[in-house]
Amino acid sequence: MKFFIDTANVEDIRKANDMGVICGVTTNPSLIAKEGRDFNEVIKEITTIVDGPISGEVKATTVDAEGMIAEGREIAKIHPNMVVKIPMTVEGLKATKVLSSEGIPVNVTLIFSANQAILAANAGAAYVSPFLGRLDDINTPGIDLIRNISEIFDIYGYDTEIIAASVRNPIHVTDCALAGADIATVPYKVIEQMTKHPLTDQGIEKFQADYKAVFGE
Ligand code: E4P
Repeated sequence: MKFFIDTANVEDIRKANDMGVICGVTTNPSLIAKEGRDFNEVIKEITTIVDGPISGEVKATTVDAEGMIAEGREIAKIHPNMVVKIPMTVEGLKATKVLSSEGIPVNVTLIFSANQAILAANAGAAYVSPFLGRLDDINTPGIDLIRNISEIFDIYGYDTEIIAASVRNPIHVTDCALAGADIATVPYKVIEQMTKHPLTDQGIEKFQADYKAVFGE
């Protein structure tokens, strides 16, 4: 399973990129707003850090296909690695069809059902983003959605890749890998949590103590 980082914070992106564990970035309007920086400026900076797919979403206030298409074309011009993120609506599907036919990769976001994923794949989406954590939040197992989409895409041979989104903890990551997600997009905090194991820390301490006891510092 491939790993993207889900943030617009360039420091976190740098840290994850330096670890060698990510090959792409996803942003959304909330993440961009959190940084309080101009969209184009942040996205351009991200493209200088990570050499892989960078999802930039159309404005949250743009709801018509024509507007999304126009913005999507501008986002695609920022860098060859740009992926245009489009919300899962009727207008979003229309925009996905047009942008995909122009060779612009689209990530259809806010996927909460297998049917939405099927529609997005048929419209030409390069990626679909099912939101795991937000389903868990409403007492609906998000992982079932990832598993169902994965099974359906396998049966029909869709090329569309599944980006497991709204990943909130390390268990989500393992579950996504087992459920067949192509990619998990995760906040930096979760990547950091994944590196940890108490036995690793204890092991390092023991190796250091044993070494120092014989050889000193
Ligand atoms: C990524 O594409 C999504 O925008 C993101 O994972 C949403 O995560 P959240 O539900 O934790 O806000």
